[in-house]
Amino acid sequence: MTESRPFVHEPVLRELVVEIFSTVPAGTIVDATLGGAGHAAALLESRNDLRILGLDRDRNALAAAQARLAPYGDRATVHHARFDQLATVVADAGAANQPIVGVLFDLGVSSPQFDDAQRGFSYRFDAPLDMRMDTSSGKSARELVNELDASTLAGILRRYSDERYANRIANAIVKARPIATTGELAVVVSEAIPAPARRHGGHPAKRTFQAIRIAVNGELEVLEPALDQALEVTVPSGRVAVISYHSGEDRIVKARLRRAEDGGCKCPQGLPCVCGALREARLLKRGGWSADATEIETNPRASSARLRAVEKLPAPDEVQP
Ligand SMILES: C[S@@+](CC[C@H](N)C(=O)[O-])C[C@H]1O[C@@H](n2cnc3c(N)ncnc32)[C@H](O)[C@@H]1O
Repeated sequence: MTESRPFVHEPVLRELVVEIFSTVPAGTIVDATLGGAGHAAALLESRNDLRILGLDRDRNALAAAQARLAPYGDRATVHHARFDQLATVVADAGAANQPIVGVLFDLGVSSPQFDDAQRGFSYRFDAPLDMRMDTSSGKSARELVNELDASTLAGILRRYSDERYANRIANAIVKARPIATTGELAVVVSEAIPAPARRHGGHPAKRTFQAIRIAVNGELEVLEPALDQALEVTVPSGRVAVISYHSGEDRIVKARLRRAEDGGCKCPQGLPCVCGALREARLLKRGGWSADATEIETNPRASSARLRAVEKLPAPDEVQP
């Protein structure tokens, strides 16, 4: 993103996020995916006994967040880090002296990452293929699509976007190499999909771009370790909330938060637990929340959002039948 371009990202489920954290004790909330700091600013506005420790792996987002949070002075600090480094950042920032009363994850990418052609995330523009949230490390999408063999590429497409035509697309990519730009990739993918299937379900390259982005950024690999750390650093009565945008993310979130609630208990349902499982947290709402039609109308990103949240329990608690 160029310096002068405004960072415009409308936070999803903002009021609900504020409501979820309205009951936590005074202290610091870790915003693990700071983005443009829309959620962070709303939380700081909602209560003056809260602080924000914000993380983002994208330096453009951090610069925008820093500017947005400047009016809150030392109530907000920002850190360039991946969210699976959360526990270390909290310890290094000395935040251990202050209770961590919540952790928020608003997963995926921000609107400016998609809207800036030069970031190479979008099939809507023709630009060098990149897709890295942190442009200072890791392999770009260009390296990935030009280096991986067809079966690995097809696996990525199936795993990260349930792409029905994964094999056809992967073979077409291998045949068309070298591929340098988002525009070239979009054409190769579209042409690999049978014509009747191209006519519905949005842009034919949408799922492939999503899957490659997830692979480039290792988005799913870092999620469970980050949730472990979030549950670990949060004090009793604090809350952990996660907004996910596709089934691959949500499956991981759902499974980890369920394990926080049932302690991984393997005993038959309805019978007393004898396996020694310990509960870490209680789920705030089974199934979580999604956005209503009004929000989706004004903010289409909200259409696939699912928010799940738990409250940390006072102490490991034996599982009750
Ligand atoms: C949906 S946006 C968050 C928007 C933010 N809630 C707001 O109100 O503006 C997701 C942000 O998380 C960042 N992000 C994604 N995965 C990350 C990770 N593993 N570690 C740190 N930041 C990550 C992205 O760079 C992006 O800025």
